[in-house]
Amino acid sequence: MTGVWHDEREQSWLLEMRSSCYAFGLADDAAAVRHWYWGPELPRAAVAAARAVPGRWEEHLSLGREFPDEYVPWGGLRYDEPTLRAEFADGTRAVQWRYSGQRVSREGEACVLELDLADAAYGLQVTLYYRIYDGFDVVERWAAIRNRGARPVVLREALSANWWMPPGRRWRLRYLHGGWAAETQLTETLVGPATLVLESRRGTTGHHLNPWFTLDPDGTSTETSGEVWSGALAWSGSWKIVCESTPAGRVHACGGWNDFDWAHELAPGEDLVLPVFAGLYSGGGFGAASREWHAWQRAHVLGRGERSAVARPAWPAPAPPTSPAAPAAAAGQPELQPVLYNSWEATGFAVSEDGQARLAELAAQIGVECFVVDDGWFAGRNNDRAGLGDWTPDPVKFPRGLTPLIERVQALGMRFGLWVEPEMVNPDSDLYRAHPDWVYHFANRTRTQRRNQLVLNLARPDVAEWVFRTLDGLLSANDIGFVKWDMNRPFSEPGWPEQAGRNPERIWTEHVRNLYAILDGLRAAHPGTDFESCSGGGGRVDLGILGRVQQVWTSDNTDAWDRVAIQEGFTQVYPAQVMAAWVTDSPNFLTGRRLPLSFRFHVAMAGALGIGGDLLRWDAAELAEAARLVATYKEIRPVIQRGSLYRIASARTDPVGASEYLAADGSEAVVLCWWSPAQLGSRLFRVRLAGLDRDARYTDAGTGAEHLGAALMNVGLDLPGGGDFGSALVRLRRC
Ligand code: GLA
Repeated sequence: MTGVWHDEREQSWLLEMRSSCYAFGLADDAAAVRHWYWGPELPRAAVAAARAVPGRWEEHLSLGREFPDEYVPWGGLRYDEPTLRAEFADGTRAVQWRYSGQRVSREGEACVLELDLADAAYGLQVTLYYRIYDGFDVVERWAAIRNRGARPVVLREALSANWWMPPGRRWRLRYLHGGWAAETQLTETLVGPATLVLESRRGTTGHHLNPWFTLDPDGTSTETSGEVWSGALAWSGSWKIVCESTPAGRVHACGGWNDFDWAHELAPGEDLVLPVFAGLYSGGGFGAASREWHAWQRAHVLGRGERSAVARPAWPAPAPPTSPAAPAAAAGQPELQPVLYNSWEATGFAVSEDGQARLAELAAQIGVECFVVDDGWFAGRNNDRAGLGDWTPDPVKFPRGLTPLIERVQALGMRFGLWVEPEMVNPDSDLYRAHPDWVYHFANRTRTQRRNQLVLNLARPDVAEWVFRTLDGLLSANDIGFVKWDMNRPFSEPGWPEQAGRNPERIWTEHVRNLYAILDGLRAAHPGTDFESCSGGGGRVDLGILGRVQQVWTSDNTDAWDRVAIQEGFTQVYPAQVMAAWVTDSPNFLTGRRLPLSFRFHVAMAGALGIGGDLLRWDAAELAEAARLVATYKEIRPVIQRGSLYRIASARTDPVGASEYLAADGSEAVVLCWWSPAQLGSRLFRVRLAGLDRDARYTDAGTGAEHLGAALMNVGLDLPGGGDFGSALVRLRRC
């Protein structure tokens, strides 16, 4: 049973979860909170054995302290990465605190522990939060920092949590890196004596690294076996995760807001709530860790908004709903994602009412449920040099506004969706001409453009309010069921000259806090509208944004073979249902690769299926095949989007890539396989399934053949093989 056990005599806490637990306790006469244990389930009677005994760690270390501290204020003999650095008005730059109290509360299916610490001299208080959930092994950690003194305190670093690994092993760090069109590539390194920093300094989550990691002892865990510790941050701005091994060989990973160029002046009376850094332990290898992340996100993250307990309220106060409410999601489950069509690759900026209507007709014909008009619809937007900021329909392309197209799309039985990039402005726009001071900039410095655009200073309350009102107006005036929210460039010259000398460095975090508040306000005012997060492809994918959007755009790279690797990385942490994947034209616009239509579908069907090709150029046979595959996807969609994902073969290391999705009740399994051209004669391949009932019989819906669960798992399923870039979709139903 999930819960928090507080042993008053030992002054310790034990977080008891489904199959793991987490323990810590007070030390140094309640002046420190020491980490004790994180790993497989431990009986209460054994917890004291894990106690961090003073002297055991630090005695022989002449260079500094070696305490496994739960949350570490910088000060004293401390040389590894701290979690909090603060400067007081009199110049003191160290925090010294004492434990001052605790509370445990129930929030539905979650249990929350709050631990209060207070600085003896300065009125600075910190509350450490721990939230655990019935049926899960995820611990959500964050902190709130409060100034109860009379003078401001400058925070120079404020990370959300510090995770300690068990001692004495050779740890391997796995993480996701990438770039535009090459997101979420899985990579790894051993943790040696040098500090490893995963981070973004770009103002957004970024393509280069994603805020997630796994650590496994000895570097020997596999997809199906071994111990895995993993962490993921709920933050969509600049972030960092520091993984290091201390001189005594203890490995820890701490993370949260990036302190690069950042500072926050905490005014008297002010509370600063940090984002959640979630962690989990799994004894079942990387696959089990991923399934835990997926299931927990489906149950407790997607669409749930802010993760930290004391959230900034949705801002501005939400207006009453103007759109019909979305149909209630089935029993606590997020809704299934619709099959959507997106016009970007087909039309680029050459958008017109008539052209979009013709695409919409074909999209409806093949079974699309949501038709999304991408970039190019708004005033002056004929290329990427103008228009961003002027969010009204282009009078030349849409002389009658968007309503006629929306009505046409709805008459075809689809929802209407629209692309926006609200945090941006082109210098060639009415908005910039009216408000050149609304962008991040430094006096006497070039305003560096990227894709001909500048970043709006969303930290400014007036700019944030303008963004909210503009989007609220757009959604109120038009029946828009889906918004693709893009963010196509990182920050540069992150200045706010009007605030010079008044802590302008807070823009790094204020931008994202206001972005979240705007999204929360829009979601409250327009509950019938779904959102997709995009940032030049998959540049803004993290647990923070996933609380506010239904799906994310995985990558601008729609080459299905490249996507196999991107999707394998993506699903390490994020669930299939949020992974938007389109079927586009062949040859692919980016890689020039030609792939069969069925292959392109089978790859996109592994996530939230969309169509992004120029349907006007697809012949009747292709449209018919597309309609058949869309219909199949709708049948398997509940299993793909809500089932458990087993990555049963990896295209990085095996001749094929294969994913199995298993329905929650075990009644159905869907296997998707993709293979590259045969090499050196190796053609036939067998994939072994997972998670089935070994004694049950399963019918292959395609061939009618019956297989025993044990045979499917131990012997495997023969793939047809052959052909360049072949693929297969196998559906198995338990008899
Ligand atoms: C970004 C997105 C694309 C598309 C374009 C439009 O690159 O990732 O999907 O929306 O912007 O300009």
